[in-house]
Amino acid sequence: MEDNKKHKKQTKRTYKKRPKKLAKSSTQSELKDTGSNPLWGGRFSKGPSSIMEDINSSVDVDWVLYEEDIECSKAHAEMLYNQGILNNSDKKKIIKGLNQIQREIEDGELTPNHTLEDIHMNIENRLFLLIGDAAGRLHTARSRNDQVATDFKIWIRKAIDQSDRELQALQSALIKRAEQHSDTPIPGFTHLQGAQPVTLGHHLLSYVEMFGRDRGRFNDARKRLNECPLGSAALAGTSFPIDRKMTSESLGFDRPTRNSLDSVSDRDFALEALAAVALCSSHLSRLGEELVIWSSNQFGFIRLSDSFSTGSSIMPQKRNPDAAELIRGKNGRVTGNFVGLLNTMKGLSLAYAKDMQEDKEPIFDSFKTLSICLRAAGGMINDMTINKEAMAEATKEGHSTATELADWLVRELNIPFRNAHESVGKIVKMADSKDSRLWDLSLSDLQSIQPKITKAAHDILKPEIAINTKTSYGGTSVKQVKLQLRQAKKRFL
Ligand code: ARG
Repeated sequence: MEDNKKHKKQTKRTYKKRPKKLAKSSTQSELKDTGSNPLWGGRFSKGPSSIMEDINSSVDVDWVLYEEDIECSKAHAEMLYNQGILNNSDKKKIIKGLNQIQREIEDGELTPNHTLEDIHMNIENRLFLLIGDAAGRLHTARSRNDQVATDFKIWIRKAIDQSDRELQALQSALIKRAEQHSDTPIPGFTHLQGAQPVTLGHHLLSYVEMFGRDRGRFNDARKRLNECPLGSAALAGTSFPIDRKMTSESLGFDRPTRNSLDSVSDRDFALEALAAVALCSSHLSRLGEELVIWSSNQFGFIRLSDSFSTGSSIMPQKRNPDAAELIRGKNGRVTGNFVGLLNTMKGLSLAYAKDMQEDKEPIFDSFKTLSICLRAAGGMINDMTINKEAMAEATKEGHSTATELADWLVRELNIPFRNAHESVGKIVKMADSKDSRLWDLSLSDLQSIQPKITKAAHDILKPEIAINTKTSYGGTSVKQVKLQLRQAKKRFL
């Protein structure tokens, strides 16, 4: 007790320093002169070289896991107590100490110490300083291998839940704009050449579908991830009578993992989450690209708000769509993160290997990047001004309703599609030679190529009428788009 009081006084000054000063507790005192790690240095007579410390330390990266690590340690301590492995007084000290450490980290009082390698050892060492020997009992029946896998799963689970909320917010922005523009004509493209007119509502709802599948992928990954590795110990399980169901339940998992070797060597959960992030990010990159094209002077379909545009330091007239470009560009790094970790994991023999410490940077970076991109995309969609006239004007270019006439010939006159295609091709050629739009050709012009054409066929050449012929399920007619809107609201919001 006396010792502990001294530790408490010292800690604020000493926890950042080398173990020499930390080693007041009896457990650590034998190690103080070696300079080796106070938590595993027992068999060493020398401390690591500074290069070794630099390559080995992950605390700058994994410090963000402090909350999950503390949550996990508290659940472990409660379970040890429940199983009669830890006495009540030690358990209480441990929980109190861990709560204090959480406060110190959140207040910025406790900061990373590289000598102590990672967040787990930083916290454990601090616990020694606060409560003395009882801290040494917390690591009974566990190892950093199952501890880190558990912490990391909890972190990813939270990140997945956050992505789900952010994806939903983006879907909601898209749905709102789609609702305002369920009947606004816009050119539909293939090969970035005007193909057939569609509605803006229809176009925006296609992204709602993509982001809906992304949410599905995150949820699938979450289901498979939600098994608790804690209690697998280093690799083989433990000889202590632990209750893995209890820790699994208290940490919000569905069940404990079933194989201790797999539990400490599995990083599928990180890879699956990363794959979902990468795919979602590639959807965002397509949206980013369309916003870039649409906001160009040449297209002029939309104007991004001032809040989501930047100026040029040399060309005063410029309004650059930087956020849209960055949404497109960041996809490269996120995909690289996925490929990188996949390669790190490839060929690793069982069970744990230190290579696996490389799993955190790609995950932390990818989720952070995804979050900013989802929020920026939502912001741009919410704020953009839509130029209906420019969109409508563009649907008139490129004879975009030629297919409608061919379909009409097939539907109404029972002409084989290939023959209809041929006749309409000739009509397009005639329009080009007269520098005219298809619907500006006279009925007799059309009849000179296909005598059975009537006034109804002539009307169908107008984009707003052509759009409403697309009544098939999932098609672009206003009626179908309104149905899709109703369904999207129910499915996603
Ligand atoms: N910092 C390590 C990681 O993130 C923790 C596990 C260390 N385990 C070990 N056997 N050295 O992977």
